[in-house]
Amino acid sequence: MRNIVLVGFMGSGKTTVGKLLSEKTGMPLVDMDSVIEERAGKSINDIFAHEGEAHFRKLERELAMELSARQGQVISTGGGIVLNSDNIADFEKSGLVVCLLVDAETVLERLLHDTTRPLLAGDKAARILGILESRKALYGSIRHRIDTSGRPSPVPTAEEIIELYRSNNS
Ligand code: S3P
Repeated sequence: MRNIVLVGFMGSGKTTVGKLLSEKTGMPLVDMDSVIEERAGKSINDIFAHEGEAHFRKLERELAMELSARQGQVISTGGGIVLNSDNIADFEKSGLVVCLLVDAETVLERLLHDTTRPLLAGDKAARILGILESRKALYGSIRHRIDTSGRPSPVPTAEEIIELYRSNNS
Protein backbone atom coordinates (compact mmCIF):
# COMPACT_ATOMS: atom_id res chain seq x y z
CA MET A 1 0.00 0.00 0.00
CA ARG A 2 1.39 3.36 -1.02
CA ASN A 3 1.51 6.16 1.53
CA ILE A 4 -0.83 9.11 1.58
CA VAL A 5 1.15 12.26 2.40
CA LEU A 6 -0.59 15.47 3.43
CA VAL A 7 1.20 18.74 2.82
CA GLY A 8 0.01 22.31 3.41
CA PHE A 9 0.27 25.45 5.50
CA MET A 10 -0.16 25.48 9.28
CA GLY A 11 -3.87 25.19 10.06
CA SER A 12 -4.77 23.73 6.67
CA GLY A 13 -6.24 20.65 8.37
CA LYS A 14 -3.52 18.06 7.67
CA THR A 15 -3.86 16.33 11.03
CA THR A 16 -7.67 16.41 11.12
CA VAL A 17 -7.97 15.10 7.56
CA GLY A 18 -5.17 12.63 8.30
CA LYS A 19 -7.13 11.12 11.20
CA LEU A 20 -10.16 10.60 8.95
CA LEU A 21 -8.00 9.05 6.23
CA SER A 22 -6.42 6.74 8.76
CA GLU A 23 -9.87 5.59 9.96
CA LYS A 24 -11.13 5.10 6.41
CA THR A 25 -8.09 3.27 5.05
CA GLY A 26 -7.00 1.41 8.19
CA MET A 27 -3.46 2.73 7.65
CA PRO A 28 -1.75 4.23 10.71
CA LEU A 29 -1.43 8.01 10.96
CA VAL A 30 2.09 9.31 11.40
CA ASP A 31 2.15 12.95 12.48
CA MET A 32 5.69 14.17 11.75
CA ASP A 33 5.69 16.98 14.31
CA SER A 34 4.52 14.58 17.04
CA VAL A 35 7.26 12.06 16.16
CA ILE A 36 9.91 14.80 16.22
CA GLU A 37 8.64 16.05 19.60
CA GLU A 38 8.54 12.54 21.07
CA ARG A 39 12.06 11.70 19.92
CA ALA A 40 13.51 15.03 21.02
CA GLY A 41 11.65 14.87 24.32
CA LYS A 42 10.58 18.49 23.88
CA SER A 43 8.04 20.62 22.10
CA ILE A 44 8.51 22.18 18.64
CA ASN A 45 8.57 25.56 20.41
CA ASP A 46 11.47 24.39 22.59
CA ILE A 47 13.38 22.86 19.67
CA PHE A 48 13.14 26.18 17.79
CA ALA A 49 14.09 28.16 20.92
CA HIS A 50 17.02 25.97 22.02
CA GLU A 51 18.46 24.46 18.83
CA GLY A 52 17.06 26.79 16.18
CA GLU A 53 14.99 26.35 13.05
CA ALA A 54 17.88 24.88 11.00
CA HIS A 55 18.17 22.01 13.47
CA PHE A 56 14.42 21.40 13.30
CA ARG A 57 14.63 21.28 9.47
CA LYS A 58 17.39 18.70 9.75
CA LEU A 59 15.26 16.49 12.01
CA GLU A 60 12.35 16.96 9.63
CA ARG A 61 14.50 15.99 6.62
CA GLU A 62 15.81 12.85 8.37
CA LEU A 63 12.30 11.78 9.31
CA ALA A 64 11.03 12.41 5.76
CA MET A 65 13.74 10.07 4.44
CA GLU A 66 12.89 7.45 7.03
CA LEU A 67 9.14 7.57 6.41
CA SER A 68 9.36 7.63 2.64
CA ALA A 69 11.26 4.34 2.80
CA ARG A 70 8.20 2.73 4.41
CA GLN A 71 4.75 1.91 3.04
CA GLY A 72 1.14 1.86 4.19
CA GLN A 73 1.03 5.06 6.23
CA VAL A 74 -0.99 8.25 6.27
CA ILE A 75 1.62 10.95 6.89
CA SER A 76 0.75 14.40 8.19
CA THR A 77 3.75 16.65 7.53
CA GLY A 78 4.70 20.01 9.07
CA GLY A 79 3.86 23.09 7.01
CA GLY A 80 7.52 23.75 6.17
CA ILE A 81 8.16 20.34 4.58
CA VAL A 82 8.00 22.02 1.15
CA LEU A 83 11.03 24.20 1.95
CA ASN A 84 13.29 21.30 0.96
CA SER A 85 12.30 19.92 -2.45
CA ASP A 86 14.08 16.63 -1.63
CA ASN A 87 11.35 15.95 0.95
CA ILE A 88 8.63 16.20 -1.67
CA ALA A 89 10.63 14.20 -4.24
CA ASP A 90 11.11 11.38 -1.71
CA PHE A 91 7.45 11.35 -0.68
CA GLU A 92 6.30 11.40 -4.32
CA LYS A 93 8.25 8.19 -4.92
CA SER A 94 6.54 6.29 -2.12
CA GLY A 95 3.02 7.63 -2.18
CA LEU A 96 0.33 10.07 -3.10
CA VAL A 97 1.21 13.61 -2.04
CA VAL A 98 -1.75 15.95 -1.59
CA CYS A 99 -1.50 19.62 -0.72
CA LEU A 100 -4.32 21.18 1.30
CA LEU A 101 -4.63 24.82 0.30
CA VAL A 102 -6.10 27.37 2.66
CA ASP A 103 -6.46 31.15 2.72
CA ALA A 104 -4.88 33.44 5.32
CA GLU A 105 -8.23 34.38 6.86
CA THR A 106 -9.12 30.76 7.58
CA VAL A 107 -5.66 30.09 9.06
CA LEU A 108 -5.97 33.11 11.35
CA GLU A 109 -9.43 32.02 12.46
CA ARG A 110 -8.21 28.51 13.24
CA LEU A 111 -4.96 29.50 14.94
CA LEU A 112 -6.04 32.69 16.69
CA HIS A 113 -5.38 31.26 20.15
CA ASP A 114 -2.63 28.82 19.20
CA THR A 115 0.73 29.17 20.94
CA THR A 116 2.45 26.05 19.58
CA ARG A 117 3.72 27.49 16.25
CA PRO A 118 7.00 29.36 16.82
CA LEU A 119 6.93 30.90 13.34
CA LEU A 120 3.66 32.67 14.15
CA ALA A 121 4.86 34.34 17.35
CA GLY A 122 4.36 38.11 17.38
CA ASP A 123 1.95 39.73 14.93
CA LYS A 124 0.14 36.55 13.93
CA ALA A 125 -1.87 37.97 11.03
CA ALA A 126 1.22 39.54 9.46
CA ARG A 127 3.27 36.38 9.98
CA ILE A 128 0.59 34.21 8.34
CA LEU A 129 0.29 36.55 5.34
CA GLY A 130 4.07 36.81 4.91
CA ILE A 131 4.90 33.11 5.20
CA LEU A 132 1.91 32.05 3.09
CA GLU A 133 3.00 34.45 0.34
CA SER A 134 6.63 33.29 0.47
CA ARG A 135 5.55 29.63 0.12
CA LYS A 136 2.74 30.11 -2.38
CA ALA A 137 4.75 28.80 -5.34
CA LEU A 138 5.99 25.80 -3.32
CA TYR A 139 2.51 24.66 -2.30
CA GLY A 140 1.24 25.50 -5.79
CA SER A 141 3.81 23.22 -7.39
CA ILE A 142 2.43 20.06 -5.72
CA ARG A 143 0.54 18.13 -8.38
CA HIS A 144 -2.56 17.27 -6.35
CA ARG A 145 -4.09 20.23 -4.53
CA ILE A 146 -7.40 20.66 -2.74
CA ASP A 147 -8.64 24.09 -1.68
CA THR A 148 -10.17 23.61 1.75
CA SER A 149 -11.01 27.30 2.37
CA GLY A 150 -14.62 27.69 3.40
CA ARG A 151 -15.06 23.97 3.97
CA PRO A 152 -16.38 23.66 7.52
CA SER A 153 -16.00 19.88 7.56
CA PRO A 154 -12.92 17.79 6.75
CA VAL A 155 -15.10 14.87 5.58
CA PRO A 156 -15.49 15.85 1.88
CA THR A 157 -11.75 16.55 1.70
CA ALA A 158 -10.93 13.11 3.08
CA GLU A 159 -13.38 11.50 0.64
CA GLU A 160 -11.83 13.35 -2.29
CA ILE A 161 -8.38 12.12 -1.28
CA ILE A 162 -9.58 8.51 -0.97
CA GLU A 163 -11.00 8.71 -4.53
CA LEU A 164 -7.72 10.12 -5.77
CA TYR A 165 -5.77 7.43 -3.92
CA ARG A 166 -7.90 4.62 -5.36
CA SER A 167 -7.73 5.95 -8.91
CA ASN A 168 -3.97 6.49 -8.61
CA ASN A 169 -3.42 3.03 -7.15
CA SER A 170 -5.21 1.03 -9.84
C1 S3P B 1 5.93 24.77 10.51
C2 S3P B 1 4.74 24.13 10.70
C3 S3P B 1 4.44 23.34 11.91
C4 S3P B 1 5.73 22.84 12.55
C5 S3P B 1 6.69 23.97 12.79
C6 S3P B 1 7.04 24.70 11.50
C7 S3P B 1 6.14 25.56 9.27
O1 S3P B 1 3.60 22.25 11.58
O2 S3P B 1 6.32 21.85 11.74
O3 S3P B 1 6.09 24.85 13.69
O4 S3P B 1 7.28 25.89 8.95
O5 S3P B 1 5.13 25.82 8.56
P1 S3P B 1 2.02 22.38 11.26
O6 S3P B 1 1.89 22.62 9.80
O7 S3P B 1 1.47 21.06 11.65
O8 S3P B 1 1.48 23.49 12.08
